[in-house]
Amino acid sequence: MKERKSFISSFMIAVSNCTLYTKEHEAFDDMAKQALVTLQINMDEKFEIMILDNELVVNKVPFRDSGLHGNNLIKRLKKKKTSSIEFFKDITLSEMKQFIIDLSQAGRELKSYPHIRIGSVTLYSSGAADSLQTGSLLHDEQSETIKDVFHSASPFKALKVVALEEVVLNFIASFKKGASVLKHLSPVKSYNEYTYTHATNVAILSLFQAESLGIKDELLYDIGIAALLHDSGKLFISGEILDKKSRLDEREFAEIQKHPLYGAKYLAKIDNLTRLAPIVAYEHHMKYDGTGYPEAYEDGKSQHICSQIVAISDFFDALRSRRSYRESVNTEKIVGMMKKGSDTDFNPFLLDNFIRLLYSSETEGENSPLPSKDEKQNI
Ligand SMILES: [Fe+2]
Ligand SMILES: [Fe+2]
Repeated sequence: MKERKSFISSFMIAVSNCTLYTKEHEAFDDMAKQALVTLQINMDEKFEIMILDNELVVNKVPFRDSGLHGNNLIKRLKKKKTSSIEFFKDITLSEMKQFIIDLSQAGRELKSYPHIRIGSVTLYSSGAADSLQTGSLLHDEQSETIKDVFHSASPFKALKVVALEEVVLNFIASFKKGASVLKHLSPVKSYNEYTYTHATNVAILSLFQAESLGIKDELLYDIGIAALLHDSGKLFISGEILDKKSRLDEREFAEIQKHPLYGAKYLAKIDNLTRLAPIVAYEHHMKYDGTGYPEAYEDGKSQHICSQIVAISDFFDALRSRRSYRESVNTEKIVGMMKKGSDTDFNPFLLDNFIRLLYSSETEGENSPLPSKDEKQNI
């Protein structure tokens, strides 16, 4: 975090001072070099800055305390009608200098260079922001992204981690608007939509919990990704078992119980994916008291707190969604069931916090996330 800030600062110092010096001046040269060095410290392959809803997002993580320099950068980029910059690994000093000059001077258009790409972010338009106040957080575009990711994921194809990252980024950026958690959830509109709707709802519920606990930045973001992928082991379970309308027999149940292991193995092999993802996938059906499945760790290690968060979201969303084998359960009833599992199935502190979030003041009058009667007929 500090490093990101140091780049934004040194970059903006160079931009602000650029008009004072000619581009050949030693001071400008020093500042541009400093910006380049701090950029390289921050960058493996790419360093990305976006403006989403008037906030800076750096490398897909909201950068809310970016300070004076961050605000200045937002203003300058807006003037240039630009909302994203990507710096790539082999950027040269002369590209950095030219870019700083272009950004600092009025009347000059920003353009891309071989290792700097500029653009505008369309994923989160102001129109979409308005709709967040009243409806689900899952816009069509994001919904399509998630469908696409889940449909294309298989043991033989790479998971589109970047696409998921954008979805989580959008969730986090939207939460600041303060709508109630239940308003953000999507009802499952059809049986075959369950997989990804459940994934997004579990991510939203987990992010709400995590944010309310003061978790932020990279860890918050990683929890969102891990929650989205918690059930990815189900990709390896046959549809016949997953969609079976009648009760599962013993063999089928044993097979379903392997999805945490399948998911963890699958996710552990994916590069550039948070290590939390395989951990949460493996542990999300474990219980707070060490029961559940897979079996508790032999060394007595307990479930990771992020898995405890996701387990709460998972249980809640699984019951509130109508499935092929049963109707949805209403919020009150689910909460009652969860309370019975406090200290055994669920971490009691996290559960209390979750229930408080569900019934927070903003939720009043909308205390059921379930589809209305009319909506139900369309399901
Ligand atoms: Fe699961
Ligand atoms: Fe699940």
